[in-house]
Amino acid sequence: MNMERIPSGIPGLDELIEGGIPRGFMVALVGEPGTGKTAMSIQFISKGLLEGDKAIYVTTEESRESIISQSKRFGVDLKPYIDDGKLVVIDALMGEYGDLWSLKELDVDELISIIIEAKKYLGPGHARLVIDSMSAFWLEKPVMARKYSYQVKRVLSKWGFTILATSQYAVTTQLGFGFGIEHVADGVIRLRKSVVKGVLKRFLVIEKMRQTNHDQHVFEVEIVDGLGVRIAGPVKASRWDLALPPDVVARIIESGFDKLEYEG
Ligand SMILES: Nc1ncnc2c1ncn2[C@@H]1O[C@H](COP(=O)(O)OP(=O)(O)OP(=O)(O)O)[C@@H](O)[C@H]1O
Ligand SMILES: [Mg+2]
Repeated sequence: MNMERIPSGIPGLDELIEGGIPRGFMVALVGEPGTGKTAMSIQFISKGLLEGDKAIYVTTEESRESIISQSKRFGVDLKPYIDDGKLVVIDALMGEYGDLWSLKELDVDELISIIIEAKKYLGPGHARLVIDSMSAFWLEKPVMARKYSYQVKRVLSKWGFTILATSQYAVTTQLGFGFGIEHVADGVIRLRKSVVKGVLKRFLVIEKMRQTNHDQHVFEVEIVDGLGVRIAGPVKASRWDLALPPDVVARIIESGFDKLEYEG
């Protein structure tokens, strides 16, 4: 039996994953700063709201107001959905006392219970949940990454969510702040960035999507004003491919590396 898939809201992505994200999945969106994780999260939530889903957005890196104004830049105003009781934005950054939907501490148990409260407030049925970022919850204790990810998935799977959880990547070491969400998540979408010929480029690869014959290519992604992230073409050749002995790399470059259609 075919599983139900929900549209991601990111132009060009659904075609790479058999039509959309399997309903009920927890997908990890991992990447360095500025690669488009928050942009894609906003698009995922906006698409759900347009399709009649309820939605919850947990923000740890930016305030609720920042998420609302960013969404406007991508062509969607989230404010009316909040006012209509369709969307809850849980602010874990400001920790404002007296605000019903704010998280006082970056504590996983508190996170889970406020999400459940928000779901009860929104009412029954399928809902989209973004946790942006999950890695904020284990920043000071990276060894907990897997345990916390598992806890979130196990508890919230009973509440009818499809989850997109972002995780940050250390720029210097290329290591996640605690490896673990990648194992627990049903899908992993990785974002990267690189300067190519003096211009900042961003890339995406589907590293994992359970029960899905997903695309294996690295794609360039663009962040477009008024729209958000969209998938551009596949990358034909990448600097990442050249993790080879230096003499081999030298020969490849001599033989015309510049003529390759793309370098990431
Ligand atoms: N309106 C816009 N038009 C075009 N590009 C934009 C626009 N708004 C943001 N961007 C680009 O998107 C980038 C931010 O992307 P985003 O906030 O989604 O990254 P992120 O992966 O969430 O980063 P972090 O890990 O720091 O939270 C900006 O640095 C800018 O390059
Ligand atoms: Mg972000």
